[in-house]
Amino acid sequence: MLPNPSNNKLQSAQLGDQFSSTGFILAAIGSSVGLGNMWKFPYITGMYGGAAFFLVFIGCLIFVGLPVLLAEMAIGRGGRGSAVSAFNTLSGSKYWGAFGFLAVLGAFAIMSYYGVIAGWTMHYSLISITGSLFENADYTSTFGSFVGGYTPLIWTVIAFLVTGVVIARGIKGGIEKFNKILIPGLMILLVILMVRGLTLPGAGAGVEFFLKPDFSKLTTQSVLVALGHAFFSLSLGMGTMLTYGTYVHRQQSLGKAAVAVGFGDLMYALIAGLIIFPTIFSYGIEPGQGPGLVFMALPAAFAAMPLGNLFGFLFFILLAVAALTSAVSLLEVPVTWAMDKLKMSRAKAAFWVTLICFIVGIPSALSFGVLADFAPGGKTYFDWFDFISSNVLLPVGGLLVTLFTGYAWKRAGEEAGLTGPIYKIWMFLLRYVAPVLIIVIFLFSLGVIKFE
Ligand code: PHE
Repeated sequence: MLPNPSNNKLQSAQLGDQFSSTGFILAAIGSSVGLGNMWKFPYITGMYGGAAFFLVFIGCLIFVGLPVLLAEMAIGRGGRGSAVSAFNTLSGSKYWGAFGFLAVLGAFAIMSYYGVIAGWTMHYSLISITGSLFENADYTSTFGSFVGGYTPLIWTVIAFLVTGVVIARGIKGGIEKFNKILIPGLMILLVILMVRGLTLPGAGAGVEFFLKPDFSKLTTQSVLVALGHAFFSLSLGMGTMLTYGTYVHRQQSLGKAAVAVGFGDLMYALIAGLIIFPTIFSYGIEPGQGPGLVFMALPAAFAAMPLGNLFGFLFFILLAVAALTSAVSLLEVPVTWAMDKLKMSRAKAAFWVTLICFIVGIPSALSFGVLADFAPGGKTYFDWFDFISSNVLLPVGGLLVTLFTGYAWKRAGEEAGLTGPIYKIWMFLLRYVAPVLIIVIFLFSLGVIKFE
């Protein structure tokens, strides 16, 4: 690295260490495509109205997700700092940054348990290829005894190690390289598994469930779930897109990048649905719930198909890759913050943040066994971290971005590269539509408002 006269490590790191144009788009797609697309999306689609829900989700992505995504990227590139200092620089006031710190905490909190699930997917890849997953046909008890023991802790360590090492290697040499190899790899895996799923006997019923809309199945609640998921799926409200935006060069069009990321996220969700629904319908499996769908229901399908352990392995590797590229973006938020605020070198910041986040995550890894009974308010440690970060910090972060860009930051349009009618539409969505909808989801997820 060049000598650094200003002694501002983040500035110097940014100058020498930036994404290439495609590198940025791939890294942002890597962040957005994660466990959210691969297991949460198919399962909530199953629960909240199938194809009709999918259409609402697309609407939410376009009209709320995209404008906020572009705003986050613009704040990052315009403010050139962490999720705290970018707000301070652009607004000239400390108050905005104080809220930005909630996003740093949110990313840290999500990562502490996201790393645990990333670990599960790696364990499942291994036991699929060795075949030990298929030795006992009771997949529910296999899953229960795995997550109830101490093995998840070892996999959590591995997930954090990989994430920390990638981040320590820097933006171009670490994060960009990692995503440039893995995101196209992910597409290949998805296509192989989709072809496998769609050619199974009886796959049509799964496709129909996923893609043939029945609007009578939609409820107000499903609309809110779709909206909340659009935020989670695009990695919004946690400072991740903002932090990546910090490392984008001046010439890149942020508008095009945002559209590419939104489209990429949607494609991966679509294909994930075209893998999971045909596969489970073909084997007569109920579209179960959450982690259960992927870890307990799908293995039965793999066990029954020829070369099942290979397809099982590919599927879980796919999940692991999707999870790790998102994990890298989550942990980068507090790492950039530590470099900026505490003036640490990247390597040092990566080391400490990874270590502390792992320690905070240990009880989450044990929440399904030894610590399962520690559940104040009916939620385990894992559930609390998920609840507070996804349902409280994420909407607060999203609201901050919309209000800041819509009302406080006068030069937002310039940074985002928008003029004329498109700029006006963007501002309208950021000022009026997105904040109102975010507040409604927020109250809904806290249980303040209820729908039957
Ligand atoms: N978008 C990721 C997923 O779909 C999760 C995520 C949320 C990542 C927030 C970063 C920030 O799994």
